[in-house]
Amino acid sequence: LQVCEVKASGKGIVIDVECPEDILIRANAPLLEQAIVNLAENAVKFSNPDSRISVKAARMNAKTVISVQDYGAGIEKRHLPGLFERFYRVDQGWDTRSGGTGLGLAIVKHIAMLHNGEVNVTSTLGVGSIFSILLPSRRNE
Ligand SMILES: Nc1ncnc2c1ncn2[C@@H]1O[C@H](COP(=O)(O)OP(=O)(O)OP(=O)(O)O)[C@@H](O)[C@H]1O
Ligand SMILES: [Mg+2]
Repeated sequence: LQVCEVKASGKGIVIDVECPEDILIRANAPLLEQAIVNLAENAVKFSNPDSRISVKAARMNAKTVISVQDYGAGIEKRHLPGLFERFYRVDQGWDTRSGGTGLGLAIVKHIAMLHNGEVNVTSTLGVGSIFSILLPSRRNE
């Protein structure tokens, strides 16, 4: 999250982190970091200025959930099915500065799948979004 700190603070955004230390997962650390950075960069990019982003890790039964929540633009329901496809971008005529290639979420999905995991999104237009990476928890811990 330090990677996103400069852009976040430049927009007046505070990143809250909640990650209990006893959560253990078996993962390729650089890849997982890339996935979290992609989600956090999106959250900063599509957040309202002077808002907060919340990044959490939590254990839910056999799964560990890493979620990134923002209070920003949100995404229309009709766009959700295509969101994790390569080069998919929601047309935002009002904001040409948020230009990207549309690869970030496809990479997140790819990384989740490499870990036998999955990605989810829940979003409300004008309210914000929660992107989650669900990974298998380590057994016996
Ligand atoms: N947190 C978010 N809030 C609102 N819209 C989002 C959010 N995250 C992603 N999106 C929408 O999904 C599209 C795809 O996201 P993705 O990260 O794949 O591409 P990008 O951010 O446009 O470009 P890149 O990540 O390649 O620089 C974005 O262009 C944006 O329209
Ligand atoms: Mg992106």
